[in-house]
Amino acid sequence: MTSQELRNKFLNFFEQRGHKIMPSFSLVPDETDPSVLFTTAGMHPFKRYYAKPDLAPAPAIVTIQKCIRTGDIEEVGDATHLTFFEMLGNFSFGYPKKEGSYFKKEAIAYAWEFLTKELNIEISRLSATYFKGEGGIPEDKESYDIIRNITKLPEGKIVGTGKSETFWSLGTENSPGGPTVEFYIDNIEIWNLVFNEYILRNEKYEPSEYKGVDTGMGFERLLAVLNQAENVYHTDIFEESHRKLHQLFKTENPVAERIILDHLRAAVFIMADGVRPSNKGAGYVLRRLIRRAIVKAKTLGIEENFCARVATTIGHSEADPNRLQNPTNVGILRYSQDDVFNEFEKEETKFRKTLAQGLRIIKSQKEFSGKVLFDLYQTYGIPVEITIEEAERLGNDISNETMKQFNNELLAHQELSRTASAGMFKGGLADAGEETTRLHTAAHLMLAALRQVLGEEVTQKGSNITAERLRFDFNYPEKLTSEQIKSVEDIVNEKIKEDLPVTMEEMGIDDAKKSGAMGVFDDRYGDKVKVYTIGRTHSTLLRQAQDRSGPIEKPFSIEICGGPHVKRTGELGRFKIIKEESSSAGVRRIKAILE
Ligand code: ALA
Repeated sequence: MTSQELRNKFLNFFEQRGHKIMPSFSLVPDETDPSVLFTTAGMHPFKRYYAKPDLAPAPAIVTIQKCIRTGDIEEVGDATHLTFFEMLGNFSFGYPKKEGSYFKKEAIAYAWEFLTKELNIEISRLSATYFKGEGGIPEDKESYDIIRNITKLPEGKIVGTGKSETFWSLGTENSPGGPTVEFYIDNIEIWNLVFNEYILRNEKYEPSEYKGVDTGMGFERLLAVLNQAENVYHTDIFEESHRKLHQLFKTENPVAERIILDHLRAAVFIMADGVRPSNKGAGYVLRRLIRRAIVKAKTLGIEENFCARVATTIGHSEADPNRLQNPTNVGILRYSQDDVFNEFEKEETKFRKTLAQGLRIIKSQKEFSGKVLFDLYQTYGIPVEITIEEAERLGNDISNETMKQFNNELLAHQELSRTASAGMFKGGLADAGEETTRLHTAAHLMLAALRQVLGEEVTQKGSNITAERLRFDFNYPEKLTSEQIKSVEDIVNEKIKEDLPVTMEEMGIDDAKKSGAMGVFDDRYGDKVKVYTIGRTHSTLLRQAQDRSGPIEKPFSIEICGGPHVKRTGELGRFKIIKEESSSAGVRRIKAILE
């Protein structure tokens, strides 16, 4: 069975059973979830519908969702673990009140029918697990009885397990959770059916008003099992990239090859959703994936740039060009491939320079303490395996004691970054973090630049800022040309270079209006508002307005806003627009980053 046949089978099966088919959401969560870097499950974009089913576009939905999971990165290279994967999922919200919703009985029956009738998997290859109760949460006897009834599997093939196996939740406050039923083929876990009947409040699972279904089936894994492929890399999904790697290099290390293919594939899809390599957040994960692929390749003797060439062969089976509007297309053709491949080339060239520099430093080192290993890793991005390999080649032994020191340094650093990011996402919002603040100021510069380039009619229609990117909606009737985008970028970068002061003054709403500040003048504002000015200060401006002596010279940007902002535009770095698209009729959406 080809990957495309399997996708179609899954979507059609659930559509025929009352589900609305929806296309995959982006790998980079939007307003639905600022607390995670990537979408890790099909239910992510839907999580609020479990408590508020009226918001859901339908009571039953089916999707094939692009996902990234880095938690199992050390397992990648084995037969089944992937960093990027597609998750087949069917969902139900609002049971029992919502018409068309369903719960355990239907979900288990659908899964069983799909596996045994649609995919014709022999019953002797199948087994199931269910939640046997733990930590004050009772056994899911109901599911056990349903499985017994529907599947007729013998008792020994329905195994009860504990919370770490058969209970699923995002683990965040107010998120849904519940016992699960898992189906296995040949003892490989294939399908996880989650029955959301609890809601997490104050670290306790309380019964929820509505019940919901969330399922996830690993697509590549299922495809491999159905085709009796040795592993996920022997499916049509990896066929082209596998062949390319072999064409470019003669390699005989299957595990290293798989890691390279997995990481480059994940990187292609992450970039396709607008992320670029950087030292923060999602961009940093992307950078690490590319670097890991390059380092792995180095162990195979690959010393020249190869990533872009392999990347061009990735994503084709996921992106059938005839299916651009089709939900089975989770692919990558919505963005410029050239752009992505240039990024690979740039990143690889840069990293190879760093590597070379690091190797020179390693050569000049007299002593290899844990601290030196850590600095090479932290400052130069040299993976510790490489340092050890080189150090040993130069006749230095790295002792266990040194490795312990290195690990301690690493742990201390990880603890620091965890604390930092926990603070950044307090309250579920990326607020007041350094990056967010910088992007906030960049948004003001961008609005002013947009008005210069597109006209004074342009006003803000919405914005959403996380530590990684700013998203900004504004009214404009048509797609921006690449020249217009470039002009906006250039103006913003020029204003950054000018290192203009950013000042705030509180004033009455009438004074704010007089000063020409942008903002929605309605009664959402109190008596006093905060006015942020970039460039000439508004006191000067107000004076001008009051005594009308000479022409009024406007500052570059003046906006009513709650802040926070940086002190000077010079703090912003390089501004870059990564996406321009339609948001709704007459409204455009820009995503931009600071590099
Ligand atoms: N949300 C469930 C999972 O990710 C289905 O396994």
